[in-house]
Amino acid sequence: MITVAPSILACDFAHLADEAKRAEDAGADQLHVDVMDGHYVRNISIGPLIVEAVRRSTGLPLNVHLMIDNPEVFAKDFIDAGADYVLVHPECEGGGDPQKALEITRQRGVKTGIALNPETPISAAAGFLPDIDFLLVMSVNPGWGGQAFMPEVLPKFAEAKPLCREGIELGIDGGINFETAGDAVRAGCNYLIAGTFLFKSDDMAGRIEKLRRVGGK
Ligand code: DX5
Ligand code: ZN
Repeated sequence: MITVAPSILACDFAHLADEAKRAEDAGADQLHVDVMDGHYVRNISIGPLIVEAVRRSTGLPLNVHLMIDNPEVFAKDFIDAGADYVLVHPECEGGGDPQKALEITRQRGVKTGIALNPETPISAAAGFLPDIDFLLVMSVNPGWGGQAFMPEVLPKFAEAKPLCREGIELGIDGGINFETAGDAVRAGCNYLIAGTFLFKSDDMAGRIEKLRRVGGK
């Protein structure tokens, strides 16, 4: 089964509750929420206040992607705001403690994940893999939606799988459309995140349905 999660970074924030509802009505399985702090990435997006507003707008699980330094300081705030998953970047080690953020998340009964930048090898994240619920392979450099898919990240799924626990969700994030989704699923991915391709379409339902069928699964 393929899980499809629209990324609200590409939604119309002037109508946030309606956009969350539009994704839910279109058959989304979850929502992906991109948090950027201006330090870990050179862009600023949203914080716990907005996550809490999304939480009140939809019953869908919230997959919260922290592209921030010091995730151990902020994980609790996003969990209190309603995150169902907290994903951290191990590359933030110079400016924070991703392992601690995962511990805080796990202790609160929320799913844990790590997200890897395109240039970060699986070997750099091996220590995290046995304990997490979700691995996010980034197929663009984090910071913005609407970028072109980087196919060179796809071998990471096969490399990671033997190092992960049974049943881990393997996600891809960035530049997803029908063609790139098919490539990702064939490479071992089972969780598709798409921002521009879904929120900028007037047929989100049709696209979600078709995304679930790509890759022959
Ligand atoms: C990038 C974000 C992605 C982004 C995907 O920093 O992590 O989740 O929203 O957007 P698209 O699907 O437009 O590439
Ligand atoms: Zn993301």
